[in-house]
Amino acid sequence: MSRLWLIVPAAGVGRRMQAECPKQYLPLAGRTVLAQSLVRLHTAFPAATLCLCLAQDDTEFDADAVPFDDWRRIDGGAERADSVAAALAAIAAEAADDDLVLVHDAARPCVAPDDLARLLAAVSAEPDGALLAVPVADTMKRAAADGRVAGTELRDGLWHALTPQGARFALLYDAYRAASARGLALTDEASALEAMGHAPQLVAGRRDNLKITHPDDLALAELILAAQAGSSDSPPTAAQHKALT
Ligand code: C5P
Repeated sequence: MSRLWLIVPAAGVGRRMQAECPKQYLPLAGRTVLAQSLVRLHTAFPAATLCLCLAQDDTEFDADAVPFDDWRRIDGGAERADSVAAALAAIAAEAADDDLVLVHDAARPCVAPDDLARLLAAVSAEPDGALLAVPVADTMKRAAADGRVAGTELRDGLWHALTPQGARFALLYDAYRAASARGLALTDEASALEAMGHAPQLVAGRRDNLKITHPDDLALAELILAAQAGSSDSPPTAAQHKALT
């Protein structure tokens, strides 16, 4: 069976949050945002190997918040893509070509276990990799420089790309190295794969898999986690988790 690697980029500073600490360390429902994301991943994939990308000068990180037995810390880079590339390079000597790699943003703590399972199944089955995504629901406007509407974009066929995204190790590592050699700026794994001519599979995910980006998002994430806590497939709350360990 292929080994599963989880890469969690958490080396950002989260400037749009206007907070005193990086957004992955803001408190959310009894844990930090990062700890919530890690518990979600661990509940779905307890035997996976975690590669956690952190800023070199990170002073907030608490290793007790990592529920995985098998994990390693990776020094993140200047951009998200540099952090992911560093993690791929760090495991290159150990990972087999057909190992599975999922990349999940630390800033998405509401990802549901069901979506994680469906995404992993797609990444295992699809030769070009796969990503969680949701179809665009709103009418899309293009803004002019003065803040007025320059036009309305066709939304047919448009999707929001979420995480996790993933592929077999060799495919993703090659794609990242090729993108770097060409100087391409990447904001997700799918774009690295697309640049190589691959067509990753869109896997329709839940709309509540939000990325904490703006100050309002934290309150919304609290509500989402509370709503999910009642459902049967939800991971344990911070208090339940403490009682279990
Ligand atoms: O800033 P943004 O929300 O796009 O970041 C997405 C994820 O990438 C976050 O979890 C953030 O911590 C991570 N990141 C990183 N290294 C960077 C920048 C962002 O690991 N240099």
